[in-house]
Amino acid sequence: MKVLHASLECYPLAKVGGLGDVVGSLPKYLTDLDCITEVVIPFFDTEKINDLSYEEVYNGSLDLGKNTFDFSIKKVLSKDFGFQIYLVYQEELLYRPNVYSYEDDTERFLAFQLAVLNWLLSVETKPDIIHCHDHHTGLIPFLVSQVDKYNSLINIPTVLTIHNAQYQGQFSYDKLDYIPQFDLNNIGLLDWGHSINPLATGIKCAWRVTTVSPSYMDELHHQANGLEGLLSHEKAKCIGILNGIDHDIWNPETDPMVIKNYGAKNIISGRKANKKWLCQEFNFDIDKPLFAFIGRLVYEKGADLLPDMVSEALHHLDVNILILGSGDPIVESRLQELKEHFPGSYNTYIGYDEKLSHIIYAGADFLLMPSRVEPCGLNQMYALRYGLIPIVRRIGGLKDTVIDIDDNGFGICHDQVNIQDVYNSIKRGVELYNDQKQYRGIQKEIVKIDHSWNNSAKQYIELYESLKLPQ
Ligand code: ADP
Ligand code: GLC
Repeated sequence: MKVLHASLECYPLAKVGGLGDVVGSLPKYLTDLDCITEVVIPFFDTEKINDLSYEEVYNGSLDLGKNTFDFSIKKVLSKDFGFQIYLVYQEELLYRPNVYSYEDDTERFLAFQLAVLNWLLSVETKPDIIHCHDHHTGLIPFLVSQVDKYNSLINIPTVLTIHNAQYQGQFSYDKLDYIPQFDLNNIGLLDWGHSINPLATGIKCAWRVTTVSPSYMDELHHQANGLEGLLSHEKAKCIGILNGIDHDIWNPETDPMVIKNYGAKNIISGRKANKKWLCQEFNFDIDKPLFAFIGRLVYEKGADLLPDMVSEALHHLDVNILILGSGDPIVESRLQELKEHFPGSYNTYIGYDEKLSHIIYAGADFLLMPSRVEPCGLNQMYALRYGLIPIVRRIGGLKDTVIDIDDNGFGICHDQVNIQDVYNSIKRGVELYNDQKQYRGIQKEIVKIDHSWNNSAKQYIELYESLKLPQ
């Protein structure tokens, strides 16, 4: 069986968040299960992509309304990724330094999807499944099933994975002429809330829809940024499959990014060496418990709570807090300002730093995830793998992966999104830290939990098999 994943991100070539991690790791595990897995992403103007060796396998053009754009498909030659990667090179729209956040993102995402399908028309051995990720590729299921030009692809089953239903990629009907000719009687498939909504369209047209955790699937029926009714209506084809993590990359024994590698036997000294580095770098006291946050500084992640949470915790508790992230400029500047108020107890690195994130997983004592919405969350799974105890709000994938110590589990959980709940959880963290025997016992247990893709990749294979047409 051959599966093609179409995505905007794929680690290590393009990563903004967890989508990149998932598309950079699930294909490896699928390949190990004898499912030929290929990934197609845009050719971005980044050092990592520019430095690759590749072979040009297709040259073509695509139309967006009255404009025609040339593009090519480059096949990456390196075997290091564990699966085949293709890149869509399109000079004007896709060859840019960043993945998202351009004014013409609508045009960019459409160009990517049209290029992928124009290329597939020419491919001799077509994929058995096209697996789309998020709204950026949500129109593919519509295009293959409705657009005359792509009629020869109509029997290829499509799967759409929703990593985050907050973002839906809506655009107005002024741009309807970007969509190649289709039967206008079916225009309703594009519509949601009087605009063209790629995520809603994907949900309507894909053969199967998955979310990245079972709890998130349940939650979407009640809270899906306007798509609740649609998801309930399409319930029969929806399934929640928990994300996994890449155990090769996220392995404290071999991780080249950490200060000292460690395994189960030297977890205490290994983690201490990483904590020591963090304490020197950020001016902390190594004897105090270190609470960390890593992530996008956005409302969904509860980032707006962080500044007040830091003040509240540091006024009452003898702890250190480190925040790594970027996002909302107001949150960023409030977090920066706080440094003056709590020197030696609080610090922040505003920006994206993959290496620093690995050292934090390997050296901090507790990971804070006060998310409002968390479709899966990978941070808590990386934390467990590295022996870092997660403090989470019980929501989405966090609910599916973290069990509270009071329920015979290994993490600290709370239910509400407010400073008081997070504060109480931090306080419980301090109490746990003061009981070093229990704290270390938990650390030793959590590193044994297997959240690798082994399990979930099998669920995807079952899903693909159920869709495969008889030969
Ligand atoms: P999301 O995709 O919603 O941002 P996930 O928990 O699924 O959340 O994945 C986030 C990924 O991005 C993790 O690999 C995390 O370590 C990484 N990450 C987020 N922010 C940063 C940052 N500022 N620096 C380094 N890595 C980050
Ligand atoms: C999204 C979600 C996050 C999830 C990730 C990978 O970015 O916000 O919870 O882990 O996708 O599926």
